[in-house]
Amino acid sequence: MNPAAASALRQTSEAPGPVRLLEAWNATGRPAGLTEHLERHGPPPGVGASLIEAVEQAGLTGRGGAGFPTGRKLRAVAGRRRRAVVVANGMESEPASRKDQTLLAVAPHLVLDGAVLAAQAVGAGKVHLCVPRTRTGQLRELASAIGERRAAEMDSVHVVLHALPHGYVTSESTALVHWLNGGTARPLGPHPRTYEKGVQGRPTLVQNVETLAHLALVARHGPVWFREAGTAETPGTTLVTVAGAVENPGVLEVEAGIMIEEILRCAGGPAEPLQAVLLGGFAGTWLPADRAVGLPFSRSGLAPAGAAPGAGVVIALPQDACGLAATARMLAYLAANGAEQCGPCRFGLPAVAADFTALAEGHADAELLTRLRRRVDLLPGRGACGHPDGAARLASSALTAFAGDVEHHRHHGHCQRPPVLPVPCETQMKEWR
Ligand SMILES: Cc1cc2nc3c(=O)[nH]c(=O)nc-3n(C[C@H](O)[C@H](O)[C@H](O)COP(=O)(O)O)c2cc1C
Ligand code: SF4
Repeated sequence: MNPAAASALRQTSEAPGPVRLLEAWNATGRPAGLTEHLERHGPPPGVGASLIEAVEQAGLTGRGGAGFPTGRKLRAVAGRRRRAVVVANGMESEPASRKDQTLLAVAPHLVLDGAVLAAQAVGAGKVHLCVPRTRTGQLRELASAIGERRAAEMDSVHVVLHALPHGYVTSESTALVHWLNGGTARPLGPHPRTYEKGVQGRPTLVQNVETLAHLALVARHGPVWFREAGTAETPGTTLVTVAGAVENPGVLEVEAGIMIEEILRCAGGPAEPLQAVLLGGFAGTWLPADRAVGLPFSRSGLAPAGAAPGAGVVIALPQDACGLAATARMLAYLAANGAEQCGPCRFGLPAVAADFTALAEGHADAELLTRLRRRVDLLPGRGACGHPDGAARLASSALTAFAGDVEHHRHHGHCQRPPVLPVPCETQMKEWR
C-alpha cells in the first residue's frame, strides 16, 4: 500500500457509527485481496438495470465534489440508444484529499465491483479506471487487482486501467473524456453533455471511485440498508480527509450529516486552539472555527453558511497561523494549475493570486481590496469548467473569515504568523497528454 494511504488510515477505527467502505480494513488492518473481499462481501449480485432504481431509492449522491444524484446520472446514460461507457474517476487531484487513494489502496475490489455493476446497469461494454501516472505504486496495485479478477473470470465487462497526467483540472470529467479520446487532459466545457456523447462519442457515465464503492454495497444490501446511516436528505456514510491542526490527521468514514465538531473529535480533536476551518478543500470555503463546529457536514447542512463538503475535506487552521498567507499560497497553486484555455484561468486567477499574495505579504496598495473583490466577483461562471469558481469561493470566503487580518495586513503589514498548511509546489502544469 502506498505510504500516503497507510498514514492516512490511522484513525478510521475511532469513527462513530457504521463503517462500511473501510470495514474490511478496520477488521484486518490490511488491504483486501480478491479472496478476502469475496469472503467478506460475497460475490456481486446480478442486478442489471434494476440497480438504477435501487440507487435512486438509496439517495446516493456523487462523492467527487458536486454531490449530484447518482441514480439520475445512471438513468440518463441508460436512456441513450448507443452502447455506453463507464469512467471511474480515481484521479483525486484535490491536494488536501487522501480518501480516494486510501479507498483504492485498501478496498480496490469494492470500487471495481461498483464500476462493473454500474456498467451492467447502464448497458456499458467497457470501464475505464483513471488514476494519475505519478502514483506508480497505486497503478501497480490496481493492475494486480484487475489481473486477479481477470484470472477468476469474474467480470462480464472489460476494465482498462489508465495513467493520466496529474494536475488539478486533469481530473475534471470532460478532461478525462478528452484524454481517453486521444486529446489532452484539459476540460472541454459542458457541451456536448458527457452522458450523451463522451468516450468514442458514446454515452458516458463518469463517477468518482468512492461513489462506485457505495453503489457496490447498495447493489448487495439495498436502499433501506444504505439509508440506515446518514440523514434522510443525505443518506449513507462518507469518507472525509481531516488535515491541519488535529491530533491525528487522516481519512475517516463517517455518517453523512455528522457535526463538524464530531469529525474533529474523531481525528483526535484540535491539536491547538483553532481559528478557522476550510471545508471542501482548495476550492472550498473558509469558516471561523466557532461557526463551523456546530454545522452538519452535508450539502444541505452547510449551504446556509455558503459552504459544501466538496470531496470531503476538513482542514483545521490553528490560531497562530496566518489564514491570508495560507490562502495566498493555495490561490497561487490554483492559478498555476488552470488549463489556460479560458479568460478567468489565463488572466483573472493569476491576477487574484498576485493581489492576495501582496495582501498576505503586507504590500497592499490603496486600491488593492476594491480591485481584488471586483476580480474575485468576475471569476465564477465564466470558465468552461468549475475551476475558477472554486478559486473564487476560496478567495472570497478568506476575505470574510479573516476580515480582521485583512485590515491588519492593509494597515500594519504582514502579521508574521506562518501559513502552516502544506501546499504542493506551484510549478505550472506542463504535461497534458
Ligand atoms: C477542477 C475540477 C477538478 C475535479 N477533480 C475531481 C477529482 O479529482 N475526482 C473526482 O472524482 N471528481 C473530480 N471533479 C468532479 C468531476 O468532474 C465529476 O463531476 C465527478 O467525477 C463525477 O463523479 P460523482 O458524481 O461520483 O461525484 C472535478 C471537477 C472540477 C471542476
Ligand atoms: S476554466 Fe480554466 S481549467 Fe476550466 S476549462 Fe477553462 S481554462 Fe481550463
